[in-house]
Amino acid sequence: MTTFRDAWQEALYGPDGFYRRQRPAMHFRTSVHASSLFGQAIARLAEQLDLSEVVDIGAGTGELGKVLRTEGLSVLDIELDDQLPDRLTGLVIANEWLDNVPCELVEWDEDGVPRYLLADLTPGAVVTGNNLDWLQQWWPGEPGDRAEVGRARDESWQDVVRRLEPGAVAIAVDYGHLRATRPPFGTLTGFRSGQECAPEPDGSCDITAHVALDSLAAAVDGQLVSQRDALTQLGLSGRRPPLELAQTDPMRYLAELSSAGEAGELLDPSGLGGFGWVWTATEADTVRRASRALSA
Ligand SMILES: C[S@@+](CC[C@H](N)C(=O)[O-])C[C@H]1O[C@@H](n2cnc3c(N)ncnc32)[C@H](O)[C@@H]1O
Repeated sequence: MTTFRDAWQEALYGPDGFYRRQRPAMHFRTSVHASSLFGQAIARLAEQLDLSEVVDIGAGTGELGKVLRTEGLSVLDIELDDQLPDRLTGLVIANEWLDNVPCELVEWDEDGVPRYLLADLTPGAVVTGNNLDWLQQWWPGEPGDRAEVGRARDESWQDVVRRLEPGAVAIAVDYGHLRATRPPFGTLTGFRSGQECAPEPDGSCDITAHVALDSLAAAVDGQLVSQRDALTQLGLSGRRPPLELAQTDPMRYLAELSSAGEAGELLDPSGLGGFGWVWTATEADTVRRASRALSA
């Protein structure tokens, strides 16, 4: 029997896979669905980095690109059958792509030996080689624990980062965890029509697992910052407008109130604000600029 990873790959991206038939916004809500404030903040970041092009990897139905084009940026959307250019310039973003990159699941048996989980989630072969090394470094476990091996995500993102031209910046945005607080039973989840569901690898639902953000950052010489901190640095605030404005300029009051609500969702530390941004820049001056733009 194939491993769960192979079944997951087929279920999402095979000829009849979930992402061949479905639009992400019908099943879950990302930052780009939550508010155009997210794209506007990315546009301000591009401006601060003096970059006029954005590459959106795993663009879904292109909501981010629509906002960025309105802000005057040129945008290349990359989806499943698109060829990723050999060289990438500008600002490269992947919002909630890597959690959808299928990875091996493992479970430690009663002797403390990690074994791959098969398509039906029963244990199979013993984990060896690079995957075992990865587990020992990033996600050690005990009998009965389950983990998701982050190498597939690290390697997918390394493939992007190694294409960056001098001056380009890449940012992977995703939900994740760090070594000190890995969930002992993993994070594998399904989503269908806005609801969590069993992660059946039959093409009927999205299948996702959180990203090991510290491993990802180490794999690409990246810096990790929370979405809340990054967006706050980029000027987003969930502060409500003063009540007096409701008297003097009710329309503006309502607009600012609605914007504060949307910003609040993007910044919520227990929701989208708790996501990690792993950023990598290619030359010293760009590293300095990105660091100024994104670090508190
Ligand atoms: C969770 S959705 C995120 C969509 C969008 N970025 C957003 O924030 O709403 C992940 C997207 O990544 C796309 N994807 C998965 N693997 C990909 C690959 N190898 N190249 C390009 N896109 C990919 C899927 O088709 C899907 O549209």
